[in-house]
Amino acid sequence: MVTRVLFTMAALVCLAIAVSAQPAEIHRVPRGRQLFERETFGGNGRTCQTCHTTDTGTVSPDEARRRFRHDPRDPLFLHDGSDDGAGHGSRRMRTEATVLVTVPLAANVTLADDPSARTVTVRRGIPSTLNTPALDPVLMLDGRQATLDAQAAGAILDHAQGVVPSAADLRALADFQRGPAFFSSAELRRFFRGGEAPGLPRGRTPAERRGRRFFEDLPPDPAAGLKPGLCAHCHSGPLLNTTNDFAAPFIPSPAPIPAGQRFLSVGVSEFNPAGHPVREFVFNAGTPAEVRVMSPDPGRALVTGIVDDPTLEHLNAFKISPLRGIRHTAPYFHDNSARTLEDAVAHYTKFFFVASGGLIVLTPQDERDIVAYLKLLD
Ligand code: HEC
Ligand code: HEC
Repeated sequence: MVTRVLFTMAALVCLAIAVSAQPAEIHRVPRGRQLFERETFGGNGRTCQTCHTTDTGTVSPDEARRRFRHDPRDPLFLHDGSDDGAGHGSRRMRTEATVLVTVPLAANVTLADDPSARTVTVRRGIPSTLNTPALDPVLMLDGRQATLDAQAAGAILDHAQGVVPSAADLRALADFQRGPAFFSSAELRRFFRGGEAPGLPRGRTPAERRGRRFFEDLPPDPAAGLKPGLCAHCHSGPLLNTTNDFAAPFIPSPAPIPAGQRFLSVGVSEFNPAGHPVREFVFNAGTPAEVRVMSPDPGRALVTGIVDDPTLEHLNAFKISPLRGIRHTAPYFHDNSARTLEDAVAHYTKFFFVASGGLIVLTPQDERDIVAYLKLLD
């Protein structure tokens, strides 16, 4: 009898806790889900999920083609998803899945062919919303948004052509994007909750084990062709998205690259393999410090206005991509120019050869080993 009364009291206490937890925990998360997956904010019919799907957090050209076959009027193909940005043509979205992103120009940057313009439109892939909202404080390919709330408000205006909701709704959206569905692995989910940082998978096959060497935090070894630790220079830390102590500029540079740097160029805008339209950007026009740059997308430099750049973190530089779950999110690089992991690694063979003045030569075997290892990363 006494036990029974105690049990009932305990049940009541639990119930009271559950009821008081409701507004914060139980009520808020469904609101965030509803906003991310269904809310169109009075705009063009798009939701966040139109571009950031549940499975991969992004949209690939395969997915775009599948959706086009199913419904050519899918809101993915509207507005900045269309060929001309005004709703005509879906070829670009179906072939490369890039969006026309309009970026404000830093005060000292102008366009040679349109000097009064204060924005420029560039073609960028859709970065995955897995892992980043919870684990990466640097948002957007060029780092131009400071918080998830500001990012969501921008997305609602730019992509959904909608009305920005209340601060509470923006917070609910942010909380939802840090929730359990937004991780590429259970390990990363645990890490976010305070667990141990995931390490590098060991690799089972000889190719995977050789591939792992490129991702170990090792000092450059000229006797080994500077290859061990090469990718870890920039792909280090739990998400493999930050420089370590050994990051090298490869070409003679007045400044070494510090650990913890988040932006760099790996030659994607320079080589422009996607063949995106090139514009002439003028930095510090009409002053002795004037610099003119031809580029399809100068990346971080548009935000900072910095072009004279010893640590290579501004001109044509983009956020170092996280590599966890990378096998699910083709195509690669900010312009979606690498269709497969094989293409991305082939790009690096070219980049390292040029950047090191011919010192670093990745062989076809190295390329296969690196791809085998990239496919292991969860
Ligand atoms: C038209 C497709 C589209 C829609 C709709 C869209 N996004 Fe995005 N999202 C993008 C693109 C493209 C970028 C990268 C732009 C850039 O870096 O310049 C991006 C970037 C992001 C990022 C930063 C990712 C990173 O790696 O830094 C987050 C977070 C995000 N979006 C969340 C949202 C939310 C929340 C919504 C809904 C309110 C939304 N997006 C709607 C295309 C879209
Ligand atoms: C000097 C710094 C640096 C080094 C070294 C480096 N990366 Fe990167 N990596 C980056 C940056 C910056 C990006 C984003 C580039 C862009 O989009 O223009 C990137 C992007 C990538 C991507 C595309 C990810 C995505 O989601 O689009 C892959 C794959 C990749 N790197 C693999 C590698 C491999 C493999 C190596 C070694 C062979 C390597 N990286 C070495 C800085 C580096």
